Amino acid sequence: MNKYIQSYIDESVGIIQLNRPKVLNALNRKMVEEIVGQLEMFDRDPSVRVIVLRGSEQAFAAGADIDEMIEETPLTLELANPFAEWDKISLIKKPILAAVNGFALGGGFELALHCDLIIAADDARFGFPEVKLGVMPGAGGTQFLTKALGTKKALEWIWLGEQMSASVAFENGIINRIVARELVVEETMRLAHQLAKQPPISIRMIKEAVYTALDESLKEGKTLERKNFYLTFASEDQKEGMQAFSEKRPPSFKGV
Ligand code: CAA
Repeated sequence: MNKYIQSYIDESVGIIQLNRPKVLNALNRKMVEEIVGQLEMFDRDPSVRVIVLRGSEQAFAAGADIDEMIEETPLTLELANPFAEWDKISLIKKPILAAVNGFALGGGFELALHCDLIIAADDARFGFPEVKLGVMPGAGGTQFLTKALGTKKALEWIWLGEQMSASVAFENGIINRIVARELVVEETMRLAHQLAKQPPISIRMIKEAVYTALDESLKEGKTLERKNFYLTFASEDQKEGMQAFSEKRPPSFKGV
């Protein structure tokens, strides 16, 4: 039974809602475990094709739970190894969409950056305030932001710890869409349902190939892309997609 999140399925979209609104969805360890556990369950559930991660009205998440961290030492952190949970998010094969209202700060920003697409409210705020606490991002923030913005801009944002508006995040390619705050969940669900109609095996192979471009050389990336391209021809959906094209009708994809 989950304590800090709620989850449900809407048609073929699995939704995870962070549910600690009184502390702006500050992420304690148990909550991260619940999020990751639910992501893994949705990833294995054949009735789910796309996953949406959302917060509450005031916040997607205002960072890791500071109260939980105050007494940590290097050794307690080393032994608890809290970021191992976060690494599991990168292993999720299905698309994950973040619907961001309010604050996405510190670990909350990192959680959004672990998602594949980000849809945000026009008044959403992003940033890494860790420096103001005498620490630094620990769940991938320095890496994600540097890959997105380059070293100069990443250093400036993370050194100063200032909040970034949704429009600045959008101009810098960090988020996909900006909508009015009351439409964030609706727009994210619309996009999720649109993605859920796409052929799931292609969607999966594309995700793997795109992230390979971040870590591997162009040569290795192109090799993987080619193998994944060949693999799509093992699916019934490839036959259906091409058959539907020649019969001039919309395709119906089954994910096999
Ligand atoms: N941890 C624990 N509690 C938090 C929290 C956090 N990250 N963020 C907010 N809260 C709590 C506040 O303590 C407050 O609780 P009480 O009502 O019991 O006092 C409640 O949420 C509401 O917050 P505020 O009263 O501060 O709300 P505000 O609107 O005035 O300010 C805010 C909002 C600017 C987001 C402010 O709450 C804030 O600065 N929060 C901390 C942000 C932060 O530093 N995040 C980084 C954490 S470190 C990290 O994430 C490390 C990592 O990489 C994994």
